[in-house]
Amino acid sequence: MPRGASLALGAAAARPPSLYASLMGGSIVQPATPHRRAPEPGGYHWRDAGHVAWWIQRMDAPEEDRRARLAFLAGLLPRPATGSPHVLDLGAGHGAVAAAILARWPDAIATLVDFSAPMMAEGARRLAPFAGRYRYVEWDLNREGWPPDAPGPFSAVVSAQALHHLPDARKAALYCQVYERLAPGGAFIIWDPVRPPHPYLDAVYAAVAQGEPIPAVVPAPSPPDAHSETIASLDAQLAWLRAAGFVAVDCFWKEGGSAIFGGYRLVAS
Ligand SMILES: C[S@@+](CC[C@H](N)C(=O)[O-])C[C@H]1O[C@@H](n2cnc3c(N)ncnc32)[C@H](O)[C@@H]1O
Repeated sequence: MPRGASLALGAAAARPPSLYASLMGGSIVQPATPHRRAPEPGGYHWRDAGHVAWWIQRMDAPEEDRRARLAFLAGLLPRPATGSPHVLDLGAGHGAVAAAILARWPDAIATLVDFSAPMMAEGARRLAPFAGRYRYVEWDLNREGWPPDAPGPFSAVVSAQALHHLPDARKAALYCQVYERLAPGGAFIIWDPVRPPHPYLDAVYAAVAQGEPIPAVVPAPSPPDAHSETIASLDAQLAWLRAAGFVAVDCFWKEGGSAIFGGYRLVAS
């Protein structure tokens, strides 16, 4: 069964997938329960407990794949030459990325930034084995400033499935803010959906994810979708990282429209 298919419910599953859905590996049908809060910019409901429960269940399903990706991401991070690593996780959610790093480095500590109370509540439950080594900072990354409770410097900054929610100008500015707070020798590694460089690839990636034949022609574009609008191309994001000062900027892994990319702040020689 293609990934994500088990969660496609009812008639809505027959709709063509949005760009976001195809990049995330197939049809994504969110729960029918009404959201109590108005959506965030971009159409999300990250501060709604029902949406958060649905998303976490969806992420836990293909756990082996995701664990391998998280281990790969964590493996790209250099340890500081002296002292213990302090890692910042942006849009940390229930803490899966931070947990992978805390497990890898038993002396590391982590600061997790998120704006969703239900995500942080689930994170507090899941991160219990790391009690004393992590803390959440509640902050909306759409704000232009920087969370005062997370001054840094950090030995590594990571983010998974979160920064694509931000408008492009905010992403580019955030990459600069991260660079300024990253200790020399550190890395900023992002795992996120990226916009394919040609609309035909939207259809190719959706077909591959759903185990269907590749279409011979470019299909009609997906209907406009608030979730997809802020997904930036990989090329644009690599350029923003270089402009922020990062070096050795690269895409380290990519499958369809999902990529792990980032760069390093090298120690001056
Ligand atoms: C898809 S979840 C990913 C969670 C986690 N990084 C993971 O990979 O398991 C996206 C997370 O980004 C957070 N997020 C989205 N927009 C945000 C914003 N503007 N400020 C802070 N957090 C945000 C959501 O609350 C949610 O926890």
